[in-house]
Formats: sequence, structure tokens, C-alpha cells
Amino acid sequence: MSEAQGEKFILPKEDPKRLEENWRRGLWYLIGELANFINRKPDICYQLYYDFFGATMDYFNLWQNSEELQKMKSRIFTGGAVLQNEAAGITPELVRLQPMKGMKVLEIGGPFAQVFHLLGAEEAMAIDPFIEKWPYSPKRDGYLAIPKRFDPNNPPKAIKEKLFDLVFSRQVLAMGSGFVDLREISDERVLNFFSACGKLTKSGGLNIHNGDLIEERYRGEEESGLQRIATIPVINTTTVIFKKI
Ligand SMILES: C[S@@+](CC[C@H](N)C(=O)[O-])C[C@H]1O[C@@H](n2cnc3c(N)ncnc32)[C@H](O)[C@@H]1O
Repeated sequence: MSEAQGEKFILPKEDPKRLEENWRRGLWYLIGELANFINRKPDICYQLYYDFFGATMDYFNLWQNSEELQKMKSRIFTGGAVLQNEAAGITPELVRLQPMKGMKVLEIGGPFAQVFHLLGAEEAMAIDPFIEKWPYSPKRDGYLAIPKRFDPNNPPKAIKEKLFDLVFSRQVLAMGSGFVDLREISDERVLNFFSACGKLTKSGGLNIHNGDLIEERYRGEEESGLQRIATIPVINTTTVIFKKI
């Protein structure tokens, strides 16, 4: 994805709750079906990323990349929920259309970078000490799983040398995730995490992070260059979306 594409960065100016509802109804089963391509079974963990997928498609305006994607968007967001049978029909088409083509994405603590790779991301990286619990055998290059803890003060070389369009984490900045526990939680630790994410993101790029500690602890807009642009209430937690300025 070119630098200029970051300039297309948009989010529908809707009430965050309505936006979340729209993404959830449209994308919940669809993402479950994408997990089928990876693990040959639907997976609730992937489904929980519906807001990450929806926000990325909207921000980078990826539905506009082709007429077929535009048509697919209207088919998905009809106001009614996309049910499993319909999602099973749409999903192979979505994989064929490769909407994430050219993107560079990094996930900290989780498996969803795999789905972005499946959908065309040129480079997708996942760092998680237990990344192997989410198996993925891509048919083409461009996916790297790093079975390590992400240390904000010293990211691995393979990551540090890149600039990503999208950096994201789900339920890592949350109590008991392994990244934070009751003894080590501090504003400074959260700030370090965001400063590292900011450095790894292209100007105009996107960060999406879900976890209650963000609301409680994030104060570091100036240090990280990550400007909060939306706060989305999701099932029983919060997803915060940032633009790298
Ligand atoms: C609560 S789980 C969330 C998993 C997935 N993101 C989800 O939403 O279902 C937290 C994940 O963060 C990973 N994790 C914990 N500390 C980490 C660190 N320092 N770097 C990378 N991943 C970490 C754990 O191994 C675990 O997979």
C-alpha cells in the first residue's frame, strides 16, 4: 500500500455504537468462515475481531478498490444480519478479491494477522509467545509468526525494520493477558507499548487496540504520535482506534 493511500483514511461519521452494530451484524459469521480457510473450523476467537476488520476496511476505504468489492459491501451491510449460510457463500469471493492487497500489518498477541494475510496483505506479522496455538500454513509468502513476547523497549529485528499500515492488538492490554498482570501494570508500561506501536506505524496509518486498560491508562498522544480518533464499545469491552499523525 502506498503512502498516499493513507490519505484516504476515513471512518463513517456514525454513532460508534451503531457503527459497531453494523460491523457485528455484517461480519461476525463472515470472519468465522474465514477461520474455516485457516483451521478448517469456524473459530469464535476470529469472530471477535469483527470490529478490527470493519474498521480497517472502512478507514483505508478498501471496499472502493473494485466494483466487485463495492457490490459485496452493499450485500453485507444491508441492515439485516448476514447469517452463517450466506456468509459461507460470500467468504470464498472475499478471499478471491484480496481486499487487503499491498497492506503491511502487525498483530501483537493473537492470530488475526493470518486473516489479513489470507485476504491479500503483502506482509503480515504476528508476535505472540504462543502463536503456534493458532496454526496457519499460507500458500504464499509474506506471513511471519514470531513465537516471542513483544518487548516494547526492544522489538525483534524483523519487526523493528518495518513500517506498518496497521498495528493492532486484542485483549493484550487487559488484566491477565500475560502482557499485564496486577503487579506490573503502570501508566509507563502502557505508554511504552503505545510509543513502540507509534514508531512502527506509517504516517497516516492505523492502530486498533482493544482492552480496558487503554481507557484507564493511555495518556501518551504526544509521545506515541497516535491520535485517538474513535472509541468503540464492543461486546463487553472497548476498542480504541488511532491514527498515526
Ligand atoms: C487474552 S489473550 C488474547 C488473544 C487474542 N488476541 C484474542 O483476542 O482472542 C492475550 C494474548 O496475548 C499474548 N501475549 C501476552 N503477552 C504478550 C507479549 N508481551 N507479546 C506478545 N503477545 C503477548 C498471549 O500469549 C495471548 O495470546
